Amino acid sequence: MPQKMSRLFPYIARYPKPMVFGMLALVLTKAASVLTPQVLRMTIDDLTVAVSMQKLAFYASAIVALAVFGGFFRFWMRRLLIGVSRRVEYDLRGDYFEHLQTLSSSFYQRWRTGDLMSRAANDISAVRMVVGPGIMYTAETLIVTVGALGFMFAISWKLTLIALAVLPLISYVVKKFGSAIHKRFMAIQEKMSDISALTQENLSGTRVVKAYVQEDNQRDLFADENEDYYARIMRLVKLSGAFHPLLASLIGIGTALVLWWGGAMVVNGEITLGELVAFFAYLNMLSWPMIALGWVVNIYQRGAASMKRIAVVLDEEPALQDGPERFEAPVSGRIEFRDVSFSYTGNGNGARVLRDIDLVIEPGQTVAFVGRTGSGKSTLTRLVARLYDVTDGAILVDGHDVRRLSLKALRSVVGFVPQESFLFSESVGDNIAFGRAEATDNQIAEAAALAGLDGDIADFPESYATMVGERGITLSGGQRQRATIARALLVDPPILILDDVLSAVDTETEERILFQLSSVMKSRTTLLVSHRISTVKGADQICVLDEGQIVERGTHDHLIKQEGLYASLYEKQLLEEELDRI
Ligand SMILES: Nc1ncnc2c1ncn2[C@@H]1O[C@H](COP(=O)(O)OP(=O)(O)O)[C@@H](O)[C@H]1O
Ligand SMILES: [Mg+2]
Repeated sequence: MPQKMSRLFPYIARYPKPMVFGMLALVLTKAASVLTPQVLRMTIDDLTVAVSMQKLAFYASAIVALAVFGGFFRFWMRRLLIGVSRRVEYDLRGDYFEHLQTLSSSFYQRWRTGDLMSRAANDISAVRMVVGPGIMYTAETLIVTVGALGFMFAISWKLTLIALAVLPLISYVVKKFGSAIHKRFMAIQEKMSDISALTQENLSGTRVVKAYVQEDNQRDLFADENEDYYARIMRLVKLSGAFHPLLASLIGIGTALVLWWGGAMVVNGEITLGELVAFFAYLNMLSWPMIALGWVVNIYQRGAASMKRIAVVLDEEPALQDGPERFEAPVSGRIEFRDVSFSYTGNGNGARVLRDIDLVIEPGQTVAFVGRTGSGKSTLTRLVARLYDVTDGAILVDGHDVRRLSLKALRSVVGFVPQESFLFSESVGDNIAFGRAEATDNQIAEAAALAGLDGDIADFPESYATMVGERGITLSGGQRQRATIARALLVDPPILILDDVLSAVDTETEERILFQLSSVMKSRTTLLVSHRISTVKGADQICVLDEGQIVERGTHDHLIKQEGLYASLYEKQLLEEELDRI
């Protein structure tokens, strides 16, 4: 068995009881099938001597009893063993999902969503096939082969060897076809991933597709991919379509040989008629394992290919290592940047998005970051929330290097509202309560009010219970942003990071909401990113970023007097506002 499959053992080992009893049932049901030809042999040989109703009734009931016995355990075999395979599938999918939760932002930048989803669905199913049918048919094959061959040798070793003459040919065919089938199956799974990714991207990007009138192009692209998928499946179908008839013919040759030699042996009195009939029954039984073998090999190879594709994801290290340290209560919210540099590629060679950031933010202060698009404001806030690790230097929160802190502790202290707001397909209320499921309705309403969203929610058809997304209403950009602010406020973190979170509302609304938030901001450390200078005027400290460096810092008045980048940005925005008013 390929190496990757060993990863399945711990999963199977979690269910020892159903596994053991399932195997026991398997042995019993197979024992019944292997014994049936023996009864047949006795029946024929006994009845050729003399026929009586009594004997007939006896043998008939023996065969029925064996069938009932076999059927009963067959039921339990399937129930228990298939049950284990479903449990393993469930556990594996759970682990896969859980692992996805630990992976870093950079992982999701590298991987396509559709691909990840295809692995969660198709590949995990293929692995399940190994645990269920795979193991079951292997064990069946083994027992039937050993049992049938044993009885065949007991009847006549000569006849058995004749019957097996075609065996090398059969195993050659199985092996040859098996590896070819494996390759073609891999190609199919890969194409399926591509198609999933393409579909997913088109669904998420449907507005862009429509805006650029690319529907036809995308349809053609999809048709091509789909065609290719079909072609790959057909390649597999052709191969496996040829495989089974070929196998059946080889077995047929064996049967013809046995009929010829066996018939002669009966005529010569070397074996009885009953023995010949039983022999045929066994030979027939063997043809099933031969076919099952090809199938099982197929299942294993598909499963191994799929397990490899799952393992690649499971082996992705969470880029951020959890630290051991925790905060001492009460958390003050002091933040210190010590000579921080950062590049997204994670090594010194990549372009530095942040360079030599030295900054101390005292507890309760509000520090604003302004600067052009791409100057590194968002990146800086992500580092405090530790979505990425610094490349050089260190960030300290309450004197702890964030890399040494438990991620959970850090994230419960830092309320991070990112630039891109994301809402789940849940109710508005549940979306706000995302970080604090136990919050009361009152607390949710309070947070919504602080974020300036309560008025909007009152107008929704079902207030806080209104669903967001496909099954409910579509929120405007500004409403989404305020919902994510409310989500952060509800957690009541000592440190609040707002990354240009009011970009989708007009200046007046932004100022009104920030005014409402001022009481919240007063009692905690706040990092406020905005592209509007008018909204950051009141900050204790303003940092102007340019190409990843803090080029100016100080209060609004101080920076205006400097007549540098800040002053010129301010003048430009004042002018724009005035133009807007005209
Ligand atoms: N996830 C990312 N991966 C790689 N580069 C990024 C990523 N996010 C931002 N950048 C780059 O980092 C620089 C700073 O971006 P950002 O922090 O978003 O600036 P701002 O928020 O000031 O507009 C830009 O050059 C941008 O292209
Ligand atoms: Mg930004």
